[in-house]
Amino acid sequence: MERGYHVAIVGATGAVGLELLSILEERKSPVAQLSLLASKRSSGRRLVFAGKEYPVQELTEHSFQGVDFALFSVSSSISKAFGPIAARAGAMVIDDSSAFRMDPHVPLVVTEVNPHALQRHQGIIAHPNCSTVPLVMVLNPLHQRAGVKRVVVATYQSVSGAGARAMEELDQQTRALIAGEPAAVSVFPHQIACNCLPHIDAFGELGYTGEEWKMVRETHKILEDDSIRMSTTTVRVPVFRCHSEAVNIETDQKISAQEVRQLLATAPGVAVIDDPEKSQYPMPLTVAGRDAVFVGRIREDPSHDQAINLWLVSDNLRKGAALNMVQIMELLSVEKDQ
Ligand SMILES: NC(=O)c1ccc[n+]([C@@H]2O[C@H](COP(=O)([O-])OP(=O)(O)OC[C@H]3O[C@@H](n4cnc5c(N)ncnc54)[C@H](OP(=O)(O)O)[C@@H]3O)[C@@H](O)[C@H]2O)c1
Repeated sequence: MERGYHVAIVGATGAVGLELLSILEERKSPVAQLSLLASKRSSGRRLVFAGKEYPVQELTEHSFQGVDFALFSVSSSISKAFGPIAARAGAMVIDDSSAFRMDPHVPLVVTEVNPHALQRHQGIIAHPNCSTVPLVMVLNPLHQRAGVKRVVVATYQSVSGAGARAMEELDQQTRALIAGEPAAVSVFPHQIACNCLPHIDAFGELGYTGEEWKMVRETHKILEDDSIRMSTTTVRVPVFRCHSEAVNIETDQKISAQEVRQLLATAPGVAVIDDPEKSQYPMPLTVAGRDAVFVGRIREDPSHDQAINLWLVSDNLRKGAALNMVQIMELLSVEKDQ
């Protein structure tokens, strides 16, 4: 990266937007000009980047003049309305909503897994769902070595995956319960404090939720293999940050737990913590704020000759969202500089 860019963050005041700001600062991204965009409600609010205050401006169709990279982290309806406007104004759009993920003209990219897909972009690049990202980072090396045939996964997803208001709701409900008061419910369909909700996104086809189908369809698109059979259950848990997943992976060729451990220990962006005797395994509390996808509890499935069980934990606001978006920007900046 040789010069500075004009970067716009659309949804700058949200859970992912704020994380984008801190990751751009941490990675010393070459930001020469910064536009912080959100709804009218946030207009006038000020956010700090690299020691300097920037005003939050209302998102309008004129927000993208001269913008090199537009990092979108808003609802899919706002992305659908404003993403193409930003692309037409000349910005490279990196969008983390579900607006464009399954569009055949839009690459859906995890930088360690399918960076080659970026070559086909037409101005908009999609970032996957925060549960799909860590799953494909773990499946990809196993798929290349032994052919992944079938995946059964249950997620344990933190409230930050549902945005800033959801984090406030868990905080307020927890405080209310400790004070012996009733917990007010507004973001989630039921109380989330001291509870688990097997319900993320709307129920749809075959009784599976939108979140469950997103994991299936996005995995197929990123790994470029629709033949992988998948069964998903997504669950919201009362954790502030980090999504965990219990994954059963059936392969074409037999692969030992030891080999899986070695493969994943050298896979880009993946780290193994797997010493059950010393109670060492990944947990949301120890993974929060870290970049890698952490994997542990790697073991052969006693009920199947060619299947492995494992447990993964990933910070949904970092690799599951803001970090992967900034990494996509870093790869695209090579193209911009040419
Ligand atoms: N959270 C995650 O882990 C995660 C991971 C991957 C993908 N995503 C996706 O990222 C997107 C944002 O998620 P989030 O968790 O950051 O949500 P969030 O905390 O609720 O933030 C939403 C952002 O959208 C802005 N916004 C709302 N209405 C707007 C409008 N009319 N015009 C312009 N901006 C508007 C909000 O601004 P105000 O503050 O002004 O309302 C806020 O900055 C969603 O599509 C989500 O699916 C999230």
